[in-house]
Amino acid sequence: MLHFHPASRHDGGVHGKPIVVTGGAGFIGSHLTDRLLEAGEQVIVVDDLSTGSRSNLSLAERNPRFSFRACKVSECHDLESLVASAAMVVHLAAVVGVEQVMRSPIRTIETNLGETEAVLAAASHSGTPVLLASTSEVYGKSSQPEFSETDDLLIGPSTLGRWSYACSKLIDEFLAMAYYRERGVPVRIVRFFNTVGPRQTGAYGMVIPRFVDSARAGLPVRVYGDGRQSRCFCHVADSVEAVLRLMNSPEAVGQVVNVGNDQSVEIRELAERVIQVTRSASRVELVAYETVFGPGFEDMRHRKPSLKLLERLTGFRPRRTLDEILKDLTGA
Ligand SMILES: NC(=O)c1ccc[n+]([C@@H]2O[C@H](COP(=O)([O-])OP(=O)(O)OC[C@H]3O[C@@H](n4cnc5c(N)ncnc54)[C@H](O)[C@@H]3O)[C@@H](O)[C@H]2O)c1
Repeated sequence: MLHFHPASRHDGGVHGKPIVVTGGAGFIGSHLTDRLLEAGEQVIVVDDLSTGSRSNLSLAERNPRFSFRACKVSECHDLESLVASAAMVVHLAAVVGVEQVMRSPIRTIETNLGETEAVLAAASHSGTPVLLASTSEVYGKSSQPEFSETDDLLIGPSTLGRWSYACSKLIDEFLAMAYYRERGVPVRIVRFFNTVGPRQTGAYGMVIPRFVDSARAGLPVRVYGDGRQSRCFCHVADSVEAVLRLMNSPEAVGQVVNVGNDQSVEIRELAERVIQVTRSASRVELVAYETVFGPGFEDMRHRKPSLKLLERLTGFRPRRTLDEILKDLTGA
């Protein structure tokens, strides 16, 4: 079993086998990599640097237990033996978020399905455990006050491209569960809710970095719709802690688990708090969804995770508040 304790003295990692992190040069992956290295693990990152960057790994690069493969997961020439040599694969590589899926739907769908399939197929030969990143987007337009892992999912029609990100991740979940049942691959599925923190880029529409960039530049902070939609934001350090604990939990095998924070904020209020924290002279500007995403765009009003299962499996609840997150992001 994996066991993440504070830095071990063994150069070969805690249990001699590396953890493979796909998408490890990205936002969540680079923080996870740092934490695993800190815990004495060996880490191999596989990343094609499509949205991630080597600079996110500048701390990791100095560690002899770290190595990096710059390639697409499915184009890794020795993927099967790489996966076979690993204690676990944490599969984060994906085209992430609604803005990218609106821009490049084919690439999003093909990447999110193809790369997951490659990882699971490789793991099925060796029985290597896989932790798969999914998303709260799969809950779709559900109007439940809190989303639980066994809830029905309410995704919009296939004529609206926005839902293809959720759908691609949902097929990943089904595929992972199928590999678990049919081939005995020990899979864990994590549904991340909005995760924020240092290294997250605003370039792909992630809301807090986009607000911070605008506020700092003195530009209008553009809030889509009426701004009354609410979201819950989890600090990446909390998300990573939850992932580490799930990696360590044998009970999490074959389960889908929400990972996020359950403190919600309306997006207009969030914009105002960002302006305040950055002491900016910017103003909030409401922009119709259609202006940004084209006609027929659908968004969900509220999105809040139930964290009961995460707590039951790991004893963990996210600790950092939105104020702490904003301070961390703005250096205020
Ligand atoms: N950040 C969030 O709020 C959030 C919310 C829900 C789900 N997720 C999921 O968490 C995971 C990580 O997201 P993130 O926010 O760190 O995004 P990110 O874009 O920063 O990280 C994704 C990484 O995957 C890499 N990548 C993409 N396609 C690849 C491929 N074919 N082969 C190898 N590498 C590839 C990118 O270069 C990048 O480094 C994703 O699976 C995402 O769907 C994130």
